Amino acid sequence: MRQLAVVILAAGESTRMKSSVPKVLHPLAGRPMVWYSVEMATRLSVDRPLLVVGREADAVRRTLGEAVVYVEQTERLGTGHAVLQARPLLAGRSRAVLVCYADMPLLTSDTLARLVDLQQRSGAAIAMLTLLADDPMGFGRVVRETDGRVQAIVEEAVATPEQLAIRELNAGVYCFAADWLWSRLPDLSVSPKGEYYLTDLVAMAVAEGHRVEALVSEDAEELLGINNRVHLARAEAIMRRRINEQWMLAGVTLVDPAATYIEATVELGADTVIYPNTYLQGMTTVGAECEIGPNTLVRDSQIGERCVIRASVVEEARVEDGVDIGPFSHLRKGAHLGPGVHMGNFGEVKNSYLGPGTKMGHFSYVGDATIGAEVNIGAGTITCNFDGQHKHRTVIEDGAFIGSDAMLVAPVRVGAGARIGAGAVVTRDVPPGSLAYGVPARVKSQ
Ligand code: UD1
Ligand code: CA
Repeated sequence: MRQLAVVILAAGESTRMKSSVPKVLHPLAGRPMVWYSVEMATRLSVDRPLLVVGREADAVRRTLGEAVVYVEQTERLGTGHAVLQARPLLAGRSRAVLVCYADMPLLTSDTLARLVDLQQRSGAAIAMLTLLADDPMGFGRVVRETDGRVQAIVEEAVATPEQLAIRELNAGVYCFAADWLWSRLPDLSVSPKGEYYLTDLVAMAVAEGHRVEALVSEDAEELLGINNRVHLARAEAIMRRRINEQWMLAGVTLVDPAATYIEATVELGADTVIYPNTYLQGMTTVGAECEIGPNTLVRDSQIGERCVIRASVVEEARVEDGVDIGPFSHLRKGAHLGPGVHMGNFGEVKNSYLGPGTKMGHFSYVGDATIGAEVNIGAGTITCNFDGQHKHRTVIEDGAFIGSDAMLVAPVRVGAGARIGAGAVVTRDVPPGSLAYGVPARVKSQ
């Protein structure tokens, strides 16, 4: 028999989010909220966690795939009813069952491990996490006997004024003795609000003379439950601070951490400096000794070492070592800049490779092109890649010199070392080493 099974509840209606997106799929630091609970669960138990899903099951499935075992709660009849849906799969399978809610992404595995440990050491029917806080945040209140023993959890909706004044709150994480849970759960009675509250198990255990233990925390940040978008923004700020501190301790300089937005999926190299108002998102990696920002967005891109990116947008691109970009440039999907490329202001590159040492300093568009090493792309150069129906490629070979304001009408090839005069409209291939100029461009006879 297994030591521990984990059940995560995610079948709520999310009414308070006022959203067409299920609450647990709202992103937090670039990952869906529920991802954090799943990640935590996989650290605690060798088995895949059970995720109780409701009406939005399909969307959750598309996001999490095979990471969890899904159980559907077809009617939303409360947290107790939600856990009951897991009973056929889990009864008799483990010694303990950890239940948590998918709207608490800031929980750490350390706290959960301590809760599991408390249940196992004490043999309690229930070990639960409680929080001492002045702001009740709509949480259930923990009622204790005069001798301090936990007596019950009372939901805010049904609490008396005296109970509402209680400062000890139910965090919403429980470790149950599995046999007790699975035998007693079906006997929960329905609340005045028509729901089966998981929290009523506490009074039930006490009435039967079982032990209920509480692990008391004062860390309201870690135990934040996200019910609306105010909570979501608060959680985002906390997560951002955690991520930023982790990177600063790993050797990255954040000039102003409060204005630096690094998603949980991003990797950074040591001695890189991030200037304010910079967004690093998705599957982005940045190498060592780079300078990124201010005012920069990098998404799903790989940046090498010693790169400088100022006031620019880089999306689904690859940038090798020693490249400098910006201010005000845009790398789009499939842009690949080789080592030492200089891409100055107001440049756009899409689905193109620029070879080592190539320079495009001013106001250029390069799309669907393959450009060799040490090419000079003059100010205002445009690869005319679209004829209204199809995209065509431009090839510029090593060492070519493209004069200012040249139009390269694709498909077209400029040979190695060739020169294109300023303002030329190039409609035919230009042989290596030659000079082409004019509209339409003619190759100067040698
Ligand atoms: C719950 C607790 C409350 C605690 C608070 C902490 C109960 C009855 N109340 O209240 O004591 O202080 O969390 O954050 O448990 N869910 C289902 N199916 C349902 C209902 C809910 O899967 O039928 C899921 C939701 O998706 C959510 C979680 O259970 O992830 C908690 O539900 P929610 O409605 O957010 O409960 P709270 O009112 O926050
Ligand atoms: Ca909640």
